[in-house]
Amino acid sequence: MAWEIDQTRPIARVVKISEGENAVHVEFLNGNMAVCTSEYETDLHVGDVVYLEEDRLEIAPVDLWIETPWVGVVKLILLDEVVVDVGGNMRVMPRPSEPVLRTGNTVQGKGHGLIQRVLSEDPIRYLDLPDVDDHTIDQFKDPLNRKYFFNEFGGSKQIVDRARELIEAPLKYHKELEEIGARPIKGVLFTGDPGTGKTMLARIIASQAEATFYQISGPQIMSKWLGQSEEVIRRIFIDASRQKRAIVFFDEIDSLATKRSDESHEASRRIVGQLLASMDGFRPENNVVIIATTNRPQDIDYALRRPGRFDWEIHFPLPTRSDREEILAKSAPAGAYPGLPHSLIAEKTDDWSPAELVAIWSEAALLTVTDGRREIRSEDYLGGYERVAVQRERKREESEIKRGVELHD
Ligand SMILES: Nc1ncnc2c1ncn2[C@@H]1O[C@H](COP(=O)(O)OP(=O)(O)O)[C@@H](O)[C@H]1O
Ligand SMILES: [Mg+2]
Repeated sequence: MAWEIDQTRPIARVVKISEGENAVHVEFLNGNMAVCTSEYETDLHVGDVVYLEEDRLEIAPVDLWIETPWVGVVKLILLDEVVVDVGGNMRVMPRPSEPVLRTGNTVQGKGHGLIQRVLSEDPIRYLDLPDVDDHTIDQFKDPLNRKYFFNEFGGSKQIVDRARELIEAPLKYHKELEEIGARPIKGVLFTGDPGTGKTMLARIIASQAEATFYQISGPQIMSKWLGQSEEVIRRIFIDASRQKRAIVFFDEIDSLATKRSDESHEASRRIVGQLLASMDGFRPENNVVIIATTNRPQDIDYALRRPGRFDWEIHFPLPTRSDREEILAKSAPAGAYPGLPHSLIAEKTDDWSPAELVAIWSEAALLTVTDGRREIRSEDYLGGYERVAVQRERKREESEIKRGVELHD
């Protein structure tokens, strides 16, 4: 068998012939148009498929013209034209007399302008998106596998007291407060660096108040649920409003709700819009408190701080020296030798977050077991401290390099 592979001659289709100007208008398969003013065979017709030679057009077999079928959603209907969203691209095409179109219809078509039929009266949904159902909502519910206690939280007692006042009490005394006619506390903003115990304290409150705990992460809802995130949020809030008590914990809200509107693009604005709509939509009998966390409170959209939304704030500072000593003592594993030098480690860990302090115990435990023992001794504790200190230093250098690069950009 002999093959003749023709790669050099582009093919096009005739869309218009202007005889007066001696011009043939053609379109290419990719939708581009061209005008040929060179010589052409006089028996050319609109719809013919042609080879584009350097100096003329030559009839080509019509079956060379393979138009890819497409599916799109009708966005706008004008007198003679329609705008169709095909996979995120807006295309303007001639309005057919048949089929009759309505905006929102899902249509099938061919080539660039031919709408062939209406597949569905409604807009198509992306099929690879998982359905939002009860199971989806359950994924956001923290099972709180064990009971959590306030005395596990080391350090600032003021934070714990304020959180109990703003969150635990309203949940527990919801009825009483409603009877008094107090404006319910809906949203509390937790601010502070990563690892300062924001999630931990929220969990403790949920556990102690026997509240259902929903955890939503800003970056995760953007990446995993993009396209459905508003629906997910709407459903979580409906689910929460049906509980006896609930806390919705919205982690890293700054990833969505920064006030620089040019930066926060459309999708995150819609998510925040849904969050606010859901908050505003609560009825007095719904017993839900929403906690949002951020380490950049100054960047948060003002809309979130309006009365009846996140109008309360609890700041989680880095622990003081005595806070650190308490955190270390409280987070020590059961197998820690009594009389370990918490005070010494607290002295060495200025500027450390609680999470970094707690990490010492993981390293210390590793040193202990690899040495064939079951009890953490001072030398393991100090060794653990050294290791975390090194990791911490490395991370700090990396972020400094990154910041330097960003400054140069
Ligand atoms: N005040 C604290 N007392 C004891 N442990 C703490 C405290 N704060 C944080 N931790 C430890 O650090 C870990 C990470 O804290 P987390 O609550 O997730 O911080 P954040 O949510 O502020 O980033 C917790 O799981 C806990 O082990
Ligand atoms: Mg957290």
